[in-house]
Amino acid sequence: MSLPLNDLEKLLGVTNITEVLKIQPDDIIKNIHLVRDRANRRISFEIDKSIFVKDVIENCAFPDLNYSPKNIVVDFSSPNIAKPFHLGHLRSTIIGNFISNLNSFLRHKVVRLNYVGNWGTQFGFIKVGMEELKYAPADIQKDPLKLLYKSYVHANKLAEADPSIHDRAKQEFLKLETGSLDDIKDWKIFMEYSKEELINTYNRLGITFDDYSYESDYSAKNIEEVIEALRAKNIIHKDSDGKEVASINDKKISVVKSDGSTLYLTRDIAAAIDRFKKYSFDKMYYVVDNSQSDHFYVLKDILYKMDLPWAGRLVHIKFGRIKGMSTRKGTSVFLKDILDECRDIMIKRQIESPTTKVPINDGEIADILGVSCVIVNELKRRRQKDYEFNWDTVLQVQGDTGIRLQYTHCRLHSLEKNSGATPAKECIPEIFNHPEALSLLKVLAKFHDVLYKANAQLEAYILVNYLFHLCNHINKALVELQVKGTSPDVASQRLLLFNTAREVLKNGMEILGLRPLQAM
Ligand code: ARG
Repeated sequence: MSLPLNDLEKLLGVTNITEVLKIQPDDIIKNIHLVRDRANRRISFEIDKSIFVKDVIENCAFPDLNYSPKNIVVDFSSPNIAKPFHLGHLRSTIIGNFISNLNSFLRHKVVRLNYVGNWGTQFGFIKVGMEELKYAPADIQKDPLKLLYKSYVHANKLAEADPSIHDRAKQEFLKLETGSLDDIKDWKIFMEYSKEELINTYNRLGITFDDYSYESDYSAKNIEEVIEALRAKNIIHKDSDGKEVASINDKKISVVKSDGSTLYLTRDIAAAIDRFKKYSFDKMYYVVDNSQSDHFYVLKDILYKMDLPWAGRLVHIKFGRIKGMSTRKGTSVFLKDILDECRDIMIKRQIESPTTKVPINDGEIADILGVSCVIVNELKRRRQKDYEFNWDTVLQVQGDTGIRLQYTHCRLHSLEKNSGATPAKECIPEIFNHPEALSLLKVLAKFHDVLYKANAQLEAYILVNYLFHLCNHINKALVELQVKGTSPDVASQRLLLFNTAREVLKNGMEILGLRPLQAM
């Protein structure tokens, strides 16, 4: 076994490992060697096997509590109402949920925040589109996201032929921004409908938010103070065309429009300040695709210029694009359609498979399996990579998909149910002599390191790879380490080991955002 020096120092509770090396190794740690290489000074040592085995069985599935919890805000998913919930939002949703779950598992205090885009000239377009298409509120209620989107698309089409539409849309938005009550009332109702629909889809993904906030919370009349502060600190100044701009690396960046209305950036500045007041975060993550890198760079720069000491706590978690994702039947990119398609394929598979052990009728298990596939497909690669979406690889039974994780988890459940043994309450390390048991224990022992590494790099693939590796070892061990037909002691110890593995697999799957099944 080998550990980085500072981990070993932490483990031993010392600050200077070389001091420790002068002390004679005791019973727990034997044969310490200091191995130096240029990149990483490592120390290797042996520890007493029975202590190791007991420690893994008792502790590996739970987080350690050797640090003080931090306040973490994760801004993720954050779709725009009236524009489709596109694939960038799907990635943000899945990655952001993973980051939140991981930090909660590591016992940090996490606020999951959905910052819904419901402001800007686009909302003027929606208003115009709705008027032109003569949609009544009751129509919108039935299918809010699609109809608001249709209105938006319709108005944009009209604007191509008729430039006056653009002005009309701007006028409509200005009415909202300056708070014309009737308009605001209608528009609030549409937001409620849209939120309900979003929540339904999030439920299917097993995702909840602690807080919904809206870009409209930071409309011009709500954030005058912030804009005043930007002026007072000379961060923004009037440009020739009446806009107020900031200079960032010699580029002019608009912060307030000439008619006094706000921009995405303005609202994000105000939102960050507001969130710090509310949550005093140690870190705030924005899970948003690569295309907004400049936006977050500018946002941080402006907060620094405002002398806000916490500006450095903002982190943009960026990711690449998914290409070619549409349903098999067409080109729709609404998330609901994608999830429906996955579920239907899974139901078909369940009907065809001779080993299906659960009732198929309500489609719930098929839905969970479909969602598992979409999540694992998303999280198994480095997030900065663009990738091509391919239905066949996503829903594969063999290979590294969500189905494999679910399948192994189910196998461990049926083992306990059908073995006739009960898991031991106390671990007897001497029983774990089989090489397959020891390799499984070694893999289990790495769970914490994997979580810390995934958290340090903000990369889920590290955990996904680990879980597949763990599944390989579990499946080998299931063949080699019989539970049925061995002596009661051996059977109950082995079951204890398999249950520990199941716990680690379950925790890992839940961190990814999967709902582990007991039968499929
Ligand atoms: N609604 C934005 C979009 O779809 C993403 C918002 C991300 N969060 C933020 N605080 N800017 O592009």
